[in-house]
Amino acid sequence: MKPVKIGLLGLGTVGGGTVNVLRRNASEISRRAGRDIQILRAAARGKCTCDTTGIPLTEDGFEVVNDPDVDIVVELIGGEEPAKQLILTALANGKHVVTANKALIAKHGNEIFAKASEMGLMVAFEPAVAGGIPIIKALREGLTGNKIEWVAGIINGTCNFILTEMRDKGREFADVLAEAQAKGYAEADPTFDVEGIDAAHKLTILASIAFGIPLQFDKVYIEGISGITRIDVAYAEELGYRIKLLGLARRTEQGVELRVHPTMIPHRRLIANVDGVMNAVLVKGDAVGPTLYYGAGAGAEPTASAVVADIVDVVRTLTSDPENRVPHLAFQPQHITDIPILSIDDVKTAYYLRLSAEDKPGVLANVTRILADHSISIEAILQKEPDSGDNFVPIIMLTHITLERELKAAVSAIEALPTINKPVKLIRLETLG
Ligand code: HSE
Repeated sequence: MKPVKIGLLGLGTVGGGTVNVLRRNASEISRRAGRDIQILRAAARGKCTCDTTGIPLTEDGFEVVNDPDVDIVVELIGGEEPAKQLILTALANGKHVVTANKALIAKHGNEIFAKASEMGLMVAFEPAVAGGIPIIKALREGLTGNKIEWVAGIINGTCNFILTEMRDKGREFADVLAEAQAKGYAEADPTFDVEGIDAAHKLTILASIAFGIPLQFDKVYIEGISGITRIDVAYAEELGYRIKLLGLARRTEQGVELRVHPTMIPHRRLIANVDGVMNAVLVKGDAVGPTLYYGAGAGAEPTASAVVADIVDVVRTLTSDPENRVPHLAFQPQHITDIPILSIDDVKTAYYLRLSAEDKPGVLANVTRILADHSISIEAILQKEPDSGDNFVPIIMLTHITLERELKAAVSAIEALPTINKPVKLIRLETLG
């Protein structure tokens, strides 16, 4: 059979890794795909990260997507534009697409998939979420018998690396971020990592596939890790918890929770022990129970592993009837349901609160009265040594599950007390049981 011809957009870290994996494992890959896979041409700007011998290069991606001999376009340039126009042009030209572009799928995926369905084409995006971990495959195919209850993921390696170093070595946030950038873990703009935007892109995709809802990046509640201090990391450890940047999508009777924020997790949970740049996604299905997927969430060859898997998937289905392919978002397009996404105020979870309180009689009584007035039940209280020579002491409180709206109202009232220093530090806590 004739080889399948690939047009590659981008020869940076992932593009270079893809070329290397396709070449090194060519015979193994074609035994699986049933056809040889040939890189017909590539578009790249700047320095290529692999040997490009034998690959005709151009700086203009549109030359690749308009080449009539290209069967599958592999988009590895990232960002919204020109990636979106390149993909839409490829689809208009009748080419299947593989992409690692999480921001593009999270923000424009509904439009891109509609165009692909109209054309009877595939847009595969396994590398967009958690790098080399086949989580899209697992959710979209392996777990189709389940009603998915929730998905919780450590899906940003940079944040996980920073939080791990803060915990293990007592290092400061800014110092570890600089190292993460030097090591190439972070996005070009590291605020995407540390402010939770990158994780929110990935969560948007996971939630859609888990629940059969449209991609809704703009409805994700996003809070990053830049406000997390060494003190909170250490107190969490003392209480038997780890702080992780978690992406959480949960189906409730009221709607779907979609949130990315620092989260305290009991350290006995496997996912709490996922350290450094590694990623992990915990999926709870009603039939299977909890399942955990772990691996490298970034990097040249781990991400290339997912790119190549998608290429092989597309090759295998080239001759199949488009109606009988796995739907882009796991559910048949006509059965994608617009379940409401809950505002963060309507979310119910437990909380860690850190207060700086004047050390005198009645102060704690006032705090606990305010919490009781808002129907917030306390799970644990801990008073620590004073921070400095003054008369203020850190008080750590863990609450039972409560409504965020009530918690915030209580925190405002507590902050208004003259015996409490503002602000009260708040970290959400999930048992993931
Ligand atoms: N900057 C991302 C991370 C890379 O740290 O996880 C993979 O998407």
